[in-house]
Amino acid sequence: MAHQECINCKTIYGTEEVVYFCKKCGDILEIKFDPNELEENAKTTEWKTRPLSVWRYRPFMPIHESTRLITLGEGGTGLHRSERLGAELGIQNLYIKNEGENPTGSFKDRGMTVGVTKAVELGARHVICASTGNTSASLAAYAARAGIKCTVLIPSGKIAYGKLSQAMIHGAKVLQVKGNFDEALEFVFKLAEKHKDIYLLNSINPFRVEGQKSLGYEICDQLNYEAPDRIVIPVGNAGNISAVWKGLTEFYQLGLIKKLPKMTGIQAQGSAPIAQAIQTGSNQIIPVENPETIATAIRIGAPVSWKKAVNAIRESHGTAETVTDDEILDAQKTLARIEGIFVEPASASSIAGLKKLIKKGIVTKDEKVVCITTGHGLKDPDTAIKQSEKPIEVEADIAAIEAALGLKKAILAR
Ligand code: F0G
Repeated sequence: MAHQECINCKTIYGTEEVVYFCKKCGDILEIKFDPNELEENAKTTEWKTRPLSVWRYRPFMPIHESTRLITLGEGGTGLHRSERLGAELGIQNLYIKNEGENPTGSFKDRGMTVGVTKAVELGARHVICASTGNTSASLAAYAARAGIKCTVLIPSGKIAYGKLSQAMIHGAKVLQVKGNFDEALEFVFKLAEKHKDIYLLNSINPFRVEGQKSLGYEICDQLNYEAPDRIVIPVGNAGNISAVWKGLTEFYQLGLIKKLPKMTGIQAQGSAPIAQAIQTGSNQIIPVENPETIATAIRIGAPVSWKKAVNAIRESHGTAETVTDDEILDAQKTLARIEGIFVEPASASSIAGLKKLIKKGIVTKDEKVVCITTGHGLKDPDTAIKQSEKPIEVEADIAAIEAALGLKKAILAR
């Protein structure tokens, strides 16, 4: 049987208990499987014959066999060999794991399919989260699918329009808090503490992390059970890098992969407490009070899962890097133009970070690198439009169109 366990004092809680922080020391929790359980589950099922998706890995998920799954077909996203971008950056073996291909356009769906399934299993009728946008879009969709109520708290004026439209159309109650994400998160913690009938689905919820660990599994699966040398991933609240690392270490313990990749976290310069801790060798983070970046998804100053993330980076001998808004926008455009992959700014930070690390000589030419792009470009159309050449307005006339294109006059009749 799986259980929940405090990452600090190791206090154990059952999987039926609704608890978000350790009652003894206040730290966050993770799901642990009993020794040999995962191994038995991995051995005795047909999971390897199922198509790529989060639920291919059902034997690795802490969900009862009889539970109804709340799913929209998440996971199974493309791992795109990126030769042209690789050549541009000076690296031979580059892949983009494009999480924008998920049902609501971000990796959050991996966590929400498991998290909302668990919520329903526990009998919850109302779910909540704080969000910079993607979590709220995803939770709203899965709550709609489950037929339960959804409330989301978002920082006022600081979420991209695509994401806001998703939460709204799926019928969530949307509260715009006059503050930043970190403040909104504190409020949902308080609400979930006070109102026991509201189930919290931010990434401190360890069941959500279980869903997201499938991203780590899937990369190995797509590379024929050979882990890459390095995984580069944008970091905000730090749930995802922790989840991917959990998946990788489980596959490693099961003997499904023979080595572990170096986890490489990328943060935006104006909100980079984890990168700072890694670069200074500190065991603490210094929260950023007023985080700022164009990559609003990762505009987070006090990441709740920082301990897990720092641990993943250190244990894997990885690193962390910061990137400026200009570097992010440049990477977004390059990726769109030479690989045909349109991602939102936060996602492009992984490409920008990789570029920097190659320049610094920290990432070497011969490494097999997977960059995770976390959310679709259509999430934030405003930024994309601002970045690109304006459309040319022309008269509805062939000659005018040809002139605008610099073409010779068409020969209409022979
Ligand atoms: N990329 C995108 C597109 C995101 O939306 C997020 C987080 C991240 C990266 C960072 O992931 O927080 O697990 O380190 N978005 C959250 C949200 C905070 O509310 O949508 P993380």
